[in-house]
Amino acid sequence: MKLYIETLGCAMNMRDSEHMITELTTKEDYTLTEDAKEADLILINTCSVREKPERKLFSEIGQFARIKKPSAKIGICGCTASHMGEEIIKKAPSVNFVLGARNISKISEIIHKDKAVEVAIDFDDSTYVFDTVRNTGVRALLNISIGCDKKCAYCIVPHTRGKEISIPLDLIISEAKKLAESGVKELMLLGQNVNNYGVRFSTPHQSINFAGLLNKLALVDGIERIRFTSPHPLHMDDEFLEEFASNPKVCKSIHIPLQSGSSKILKSMRRGYSKEWYLNRIAKLKSLVPDVGIGTDIIVGFPGEDEEDFAHTMDVLEQVGFDTMYSFVYSPRPHTESFAWGEEGMVPKEVASNRLSILQNKHREILKHKAKKEIGNTHYVLIENIKSGEESFSEGRSDNGKLIKIPQEILKIGDIIKVQIAQSDGGSLIGQSAL
Ligand code: 5AD
Ligand code: SF4
Repeated sequence: MKLYIETLGCAMNMRDSEHMITELTTKEDYTLTEDAKEADLILINTCSVREKPERKLFSEIGQFARIKKPSAKIGICGCTASHMGEEIIKKAPSVNFVLGARNISKISEIIHKDKAVEVAIDFDDSTYVFDTVRNTGVRALLNISIGCDKKCAYCIVPHTRGKEISIPLDLIISEAKKLAESGVKELMLLGQNVNNYGVRFSTPHQSINFAGLLNKLALVDGIERIRFTSPHPLHMDDEFLEEFASNPKVCKSIHIPLQSGSSKILKSMRRGYSKEWYLNRIAKLKSLVPDVGIGTDIIVGFPGEDEEDFAHTMDVLEQVGFDTMYSFVYSPRPHTESFAWGEEGMVPKEVASNRLSILQNKHREILKHKAKKEIGNTHYVLIENIKSGEESFSEGRSDNGKLIKIPQEILKIGDIIKVQIAQSDGGSLIGQSAL
């Protein structure tokens, strides 16, 4: 039996897809295929964080329904499955089942039922032991919590992934050990709010926080690097920042979603922090780790955002000098607080898109400038990718998250190599191995 799977959205969804693949290839008789036409089961793991991809879902289902084998089943999984549930089958009768983002561990049951819908967001699989994902290479994703307790006014995720529950420490450590034994060097810890780890478990558990978890994971033999996504600026206390700075296995790059630089907008977004708090945490972080790589997410055009608010966002962008930035125009989502405001305070589409281009252009400038300053610097790079042939190269990321290409050198995947930056090509970095 062949399984075709398409994954949209964030790293959490990638991890959920990996889990579904392992369940179906170990407990059921599936192997993966890249060709939907020969599949016996087609899964779309959906994202609902913005409206556009969600709208495209139904035309995609139609396309799969046209090309699939007559006996093949279609399953819709993930965040859109969670919040639309049965409506998906009503709108698209070719769909055989709907499996929510909080119900992934039920995949091997649901494939045997027709027109089944499993989307309960109070389902708890925080102690479910998925089989370890094999062949991940040198980097692997590892969940540390499920769900999200925050109530950001724009965000649909609490409605698709339910309340936040931390995964027990011993499960995380045993998974990390298994991954290390299979050759993994770098872990990417995943959670909607990683630095809130330990706030709630579903079984009796020792008291532990995120700094404590990092400390324990660093003791796992074979794991050389630890990354995580995403921490919440509100929970970036000194203890967390000091552990981040001093733990040698914790990579010195961090994604800290800003969303807006205006304290007024942050308040109506219910983010729980102000511009000053955000900048204060960045200053503390930079004082502890001067060459830290910082990434962020920004939304422009949130209801009520005026020119002055946008100027604050630009100001934070310039002050912090983000190394990576994902930026979006606000998209009203059902079940959210700001959706209920209707047209009130809505920023006209053209104004919002214009702000997005201004923001992205400024960011490109910042990246060019930063890349130029990198020439001559050395970094330790974990080799993740090699290409042989005429235009051969090796490629990997530095500890502080920069993607570095090393032309004409075939290095060993999984090795950590000292590299000197020779050139910057736009925003990207080109180097050669150094002694
Ligand atoms: N509109 C636009 N962007 C959004 N995000 C979350 N919800 C929305 C929305 N309604 C963005 C945030 C978040 C990222 C994953 O997606 O920036 O951090
Ligand atoms: Fe990930 Fe959010 Fe999209 Fe769900 S809605 S897949 S949590 S980005």
